[in-house]
Parts: sequence; structure tokens; C-alpha cells
Amino acid sequence: MTERHLFLRACRREPVERTPIWMMRQAGRYLPSYRATRERAGSFLALCRNPDLACEVTLQPIDQLDFDAAILFSDILITLPPMGLEVAFPESGPKIATPLRTRAAIDALAVPDPEAELPYVMESIRVIKKALADRVPLIGFAGAPLTMLTYAVEGAGSKDYPHTKKLLYGDPESAHVLLDKIARTTAVYLEAQIAAGVDAVQLFDSWGAIVSPGDFREYPLRYAKRVIELLRASPTFAKRSVPIIYFVNGCAPYLDDYASSGADVLGVDWRIGIDVVRRRVGDGVALQGNLDPGALFASPAEIRTRVADILGRAGNTGHIFNLGHGVLPETNPEHVRAMITAVRELSARPPA
Ligand code: CP3
Repeated sequence: MTERHLFLRACRREPVERTPIWMMRQAGRYLPSYRATRERAGSFLALCRNPDLACEVTLQPIDQLDFDAAILFSDILITLPPMGLEVAFPESGPKIATPLRTRAAIDALAVPDPEAELPYVMESIRVIKKALADRVPLIGFAGAPLTMLTYAVEGAGSKDYPHTKKLLYGDPESAHVLLDKIARTTAVYLEAQIAAGVDAVQLFDSWGAIVSPGDFREYPLRYAKRVIELLRASPTFAKRSVPIIYFVNGCAPYLDDYASSGADVLGVDWRIGIDVVRRRVGDGVALQGNLDPGALFASPAEIRTRVADILGRAGNTGHIFNLGHGVLPETNPEHVRAMITAVRELSARPPA
């Protein structure tokens, strides 16, 4: 049977009647209904750990705004506690009380069994898939190894990443040991998500762009590649091969290497034209992006103009419309609707 979902067809660079759209952080604080459900859950973590409520917020942007794909409600940092690092989510952003600072602490980390240690994630996937009833595909996700390393060693977000750089350049051997552990954890975690029912997976390298091009090959890219290789070689993938999306926030300096990640789809942030990326990475991958999340503060008419510009640069095939990073909490949902309508109307084309 031919695939009917636009999003999955675009991931595979098959012809589509129009460009599909979803949005990073589409289940989040810009939606009043998200804030209400989070209030009922009591906290962000309680929301992540309750499959019925996680399902509720996953479906809100689908029901209210009609995106072409849903994304599992969870967080990339959810794998750190079973590895041995407790994470808290105060208003100011994620915090790890005891960040990794020694080789002994790195050696003590576990590669957890996700079915045993994160059962609520797999249960959420099953509940969401049932509720979606194949209306749109469900995207699973994980943090890419270098991005996970930055949180694990900094203990929070950072401006200069001093502990990360100390580890990468001062003790590369330990950095590789840590990245290898995170890569193995990530691969089995994504395998479990696929077995539970997700239709695509995205690796978020939100902080993969803090290094030079040579170090990009040595650290973020090498370990994203490892996750993708492990996944493609897994028995789960042999049964159910789903598209893999790799997103580096700030990909522009690395375009000579980006396409060698092994992913089916590459995420593109807004700091570079998506046409430039296409020329540099070739036609072997689909591209996802790349409206500046801040552009949603513009008027609906201006949003439409910017959507048209991106659609023109991206072309008809192998493009999934998205923001260049997560939607900002201050965004007006009606402006998100204007973006979606513009993508629907301006990318529509007759069947070939
Ligand atoms: O809708 C979706 O995209 C699915 C859910 C999702 C969340 N986090 C929910 C969340 C996804 C895919 C993520 C990924 C994630 N988490 C990333 C990669 C994407 C990116 O933005 O670069 C990163 C770096 C994290 C770590 C993280 N979690 C940060 C930095 C923060 C605080 C910043 C913020 O936006 O508040 C979180 C918390 C978080 N994760 C929230 C949500 C909806 C906000 C928490 C709340 O409700 O108070």
C-alpha cells in the first residue's frame, strides 16, 4: 500500500500534493490548553510521566491547529535519571544537582534498559497512537549525544560551555567514553520508541554547533552517526524502518559534513537559506525547516510572505516545513495558524 501521510512521504522525498508542516515545541506553553493541563498535572515532570496527560497535550496542537505530524510529549533530558543523573525542571530551565565532573562519575553511569526504566514513555506512545487512530504520524525523539553531554557536565544551559570544552579538549579520552555511553543509551531508547509505535524519530543536537568544523566531525556528528548506525543495524529497525531526522541548531558551518550523518532528513535552523543548504548537501536527503521562530511575532500578512519565500527556496520535493528551532512561549497561536494556512495554500499543487 502506498503511504498516505504527507509527512512520511516528504521524509522519503516522494512526491506530495502539498508541503507537510509540524513545529518543534508544538505542544508547549504558547497554547493556553497546554498551560491548563500542566497545571492539572502539578509539574512538567509529572506531565511527562502521566501517559494520559502526555497524550492530551500531544494531541492539542493536532486538534486545534491541524499539523501534519504529532510529536511525543516528553523531554530529551528524561534519559539522564536512569543513567544516574537526577534532573529538575524549575521555571528557570532544567537543572542537574550533581553534574558530571570526574572520570569516576562518567564510569559510574549506566546504559539503562528503557523498557524497564522509562516504561511511562513507551506507555505514552501506545496511548497516543491509539488516540491518533492514524490521523497523523507520531514522531519520537531523543537528544543527540553532544547535546546530552553539555547538559550532563554543565548541569544547566550555558553561554560559553566551559565544562564541556574542558572535557572535550582537556580529557578527550573521557569525553569519548561518555559520548559512547550516551550514544548506546540513545540508540536503545529510540529502538524502544519505534517498537512501541512511533513513525519517525528526531535526534535533537540543539547545542551541536558550539564547536569548530573539525570538532563537529569529531564529536557531535560522529556520535549522531553512531546512534543512527546502531539504530539501522537493530532488529527493531529490520522489522520497522522509520525515517530518521537529525537536527543541528546552527548547522551552517558544517554543511560539507551534515549529509554524511546517515539521517533521512536534516533539520535546518533559520540562520541560512534552505536553498543554500540544498545546494551544499545534495539531493540525497530531505530538509526540514526553516522559519525563524521569532518571525511569528510579525503580522499574519508578513508571516505569509516569509512562508512563501521559504517554500520557493525549498522546492516541491523533500521538504517538511518547520520552524528553525522551538516555538517561543510568547507566540500568539493565531499567528501559528496563519503560518499553517499559508503553507497549505501556497504549497498546494496538482498531482503529477
Ligand atoms: O512539542 C514538542 O516539541 C515535544 C516536547 C519536547 C519538549 N522538549 C517539551 C518541553 C521536546 C521535543 C523537547 C526537546 C528538548 N528539551 C530539547 C531539544 C529541542 C530544543 O529546544 O533545542 C532541549 C534542549 C530540551 C531541554 C529543555 N527542556 C529545556 C532547555 C527546557 C527549558 C526551556 C523551555 O523551553 O522552557 C525544557 C523544558 C521543556 N521541555 C518544556 C517543554 C514544553 C517547558 C516546561 C514547562 O512546561 O514549564
